This record gives sequence, structure tokens and C-alpha cells, in this order.
Amino acid sequence: MAVQINPSILSADFSRLAEEVKAVDGADWLHVDVMDNHFVPNLTLGTPVVEALARTTDTPLDCHLMIEDADRWAPQYVEAGAGSVTFHVEAAAAPVRLAREIRAKGARASMALKPATPIEPYEDLLPELDMLLIMTVEPGFGGQAFLDIMLPKIRRTRELISKHGLELWLQVDGGVSASTIEQCAEAGADVFVAGSAVYGASDPAAAVRALRTQAER
Ligand code: DX5
Ligand code: ZN
Repeated sequence: MAVQINPSILSADFSRLAEEVKAVDGADWLHVDVMDNHFVPNLTLGTPVVEALARTTDTPLDCHLMIEDADRWAPQYVEAGAGSVTFHVEAAAAPVRLAREIRAKGARASMALKPATPIEPYEDLLPELDMLLIMTVEPGFGGQAFLDIMLPKIRRTRELISKHGLELWLQVDGGVSASTIEQCAEAGADVFVAGSAVYGASDPAAAVRALRTQAER
């Protein structure tokens, strides 16, 4: 699968969201971090902002839900216009049922693992998913340092995906930058979320292109 770069608007200027979205024209997906101050100690945005983003851009929305009660909320993000919805397995009571519901509503279903959550117990769930997200920081904030101890987990997950012959995308999120993206790609990730590395750059679109070139190496 071709490399995909998904800028995270968590590091964008929220007072100029529409312009910030335009500034990363050429990105594959727009990564939208939803936080509820319960699952993570931070609060961001909900379905009204996702609906507004969907109206302002043709770039598909990759909604990363860092919220409790994912079973109840995730389907509403599909209705709000997300093309991909990621729920955390730690916050889902019935992940298989939820993944099926997201797909039935017409979006890609994705499941995220916090750094301390292993992949092995979820091997049998992989065919139910379109993407798996391995967090490479503790979720909650942008601009944190990449946890390189997650590299073996990325590698093991890529092996499981290959073993089952699945077309699952493998996403990494947290601390992905010019200095860490190559290690992630080498370990088997193919979808890269980058917040501060894109929006902290003077030319965000150029930063997306540079990250893509590095990941493709
Ligand atoms: C963190 C979020 C990330 C965040 C990444 O909990 O899920 O998507 O925006 O930011 P950087 O790329 O700055 O680590
Ligand atoms: Zn995220």
C-alpha cells in the first residue's frame, strides 16, 4: 500500500481552521482528534466541528476518538461526515459489533491501542478492521516525544497482518516527524499522523511532501 500522510489539526490554529485545512492540500486524510476529558485529560471538539470540516474540504476525515463510551458515539461521527472512524479498544465494550456498525454506516473502521495495550489479544479481530492505530505517545496531547519502545509492536502487528493476508492499514500517531518516520515505515507502518511536524513547519504542505518522501524510502 502506498504511504499516506495524515496531518493532525490538533496542532493547527483553531481560530482559522478552514485555512489551516487548505494549508495541507495534498494530504491523504485530515486527522481529527476528538477528546472528552475522561478517556484522556484533554478536551477538543465534537460532531458539530466534524460536520463543519466535512463541508469545508474534500480531503476525507480520519476521526480519532479518544473518548469513553465509544460504542455510543463512534457511529455519530460517521453521520457527521468522517470517512474513517478510529475508536480505542480500551473504551469500547463491544469492539467487533462497533467495527461492523461503522462499516455498515459506510466508513472505514479502525481500532487504536494505547502504548501499554498489546496487539496479541486482538489478533482475531483484525479481519473486522480497515485500519489499526498504534499510539506512539500516550494519547491526549500533541508535541510529545516519540516512544521508540513501540517499534517492536509495530513490527509484530505488521507480521500478523501479513500472516492473515489482510489489507489492513497500519497507522502510527504521536511524535511522528522527520527524525522518526523512517523507523516507523521500516517497522511496517503505512499511514502516518503528524501534528506538530506539519503545523509547526513554516510551509505545512511542504512538510507533508517531505514526510512522504522520507516514508517512501
Ligand atoms: C495525540 C493525538 C495526536 C496528536 C499528534 O493524542 O492523537 O494525533 O495530534 O501530535 P504530534 O504529531 O505533535 O505528536
Ligand atoms: Zn490522533
